[in-house]
Amino acid sequence: DIEESLKPRPPVVTIMGHVDHGKTSLLDALRGTDVVRGEAGGITQHMGAYQIKTKGGDKVTFLDTPGHAAFTQMRMRGANVTDIVILVVAADDGIMPQTVEAINHTKAAGVPMIVAINKCDKEDANPQKVRERLLEHEIVVEGMSGDVQDVEVSAKTGKGLDELIDKILLQSELLELKANPDRYAEATVIEAKLDKGKGPLATVLVNRGTLRTGDIFVVGTESGRVRAMLDDKGRQLKEAGPAMPVEVLGLGGVPMAGDTLTVVESEQRAREVAAYRQEQ
Ligand code: GTP
Ligand code: MG
Ligand code: NA
Repeated sequence: DIEESLKPRPPVVTIMGHVDHGKTSLLDALRGTDVVRGEAGGITQHMGAYQIKTKGGDKVTFLDTPGHAAFTQMRMRGANVTDIVILVVAADDGIMPQTVEAINHTKAAGVPMIVAINKCDKEDANPQKVRERLLEHEIVVEGMSGDVQDVEVSAKTGKGLDELIDKILLQSELLELKANPDRYAEATVIEAKLDKGKGPLATVLVNRGTLRTGDIFVVGTESGRVRAMLDDKGRQLKEAGPAMPVEVLGLGGVPMAGDTLTVVESEQRAREVAAYRQEQ
């Protein structure tokens, strides 16, 4: 019975917002790391995928997206693979063009949104103005008799981060997210590249099933076998269940972001599926 094999899974949460409003800094604060410092010019140019374990033991998967105007495609993809969007708005800068773009992608994807009003530590922070300006885009927060959750945060001081996690977990409970971990894995490629040492690499998000080392798969028109899997801290994993983001080694070529990775039972089957897809 398919119903019975569905088990609760962690939420996938995409962080969106205008450039430099503090998306990566917020994630850094939640993860206790320092990704921003490693970025060229402090600008995110790819999609990061991370899973954290909250104080209560719940897991949450986060996708970081770039705020720069050039990365519309990535933001659109982010909104489409996610369960919840965190819209980050800097309290000093307010609603900006990519804030509006993120709102539109989120609406188009039909995904619930939580507004994180960031940089509330700054002297010129004006969170109330952010809430008012959001009305112009039909985002009505709870304090203004709407149903969109909002929280004042600071990636710098850590203010509001526990509250943000609580709101994510609450929203996630309402969504009753489930997936079957006991089947061949299907995953979505978040990003992919050719690494000089490791060969073609893909960061994938497992949608259903469990991905294991040694699994044979087809992704796009290429087949491959999972040679190794790494989590966001570079640790080797033997398996990855639903909502887990992992870097996969062992691809035959570099797939495209958005491609589906499908595990199959044999190399023979993988070649057939890949050949069939090449003809399409
Ligand atoms: P892109 O990915 O390039 O769109 O930027 P981003 O939204 O990830 O912003 P990022 O985390 O790179 O932060 C931009 C700048 O704002 C950095 O200099 C951060 O140190 C600063 N910043 C982020 N959050 C806060 C905050 O809560 N308070 C203050 N004072 N500064 C912050
Ligand atoms: Mg960033
Ligand atoms: Na930045």
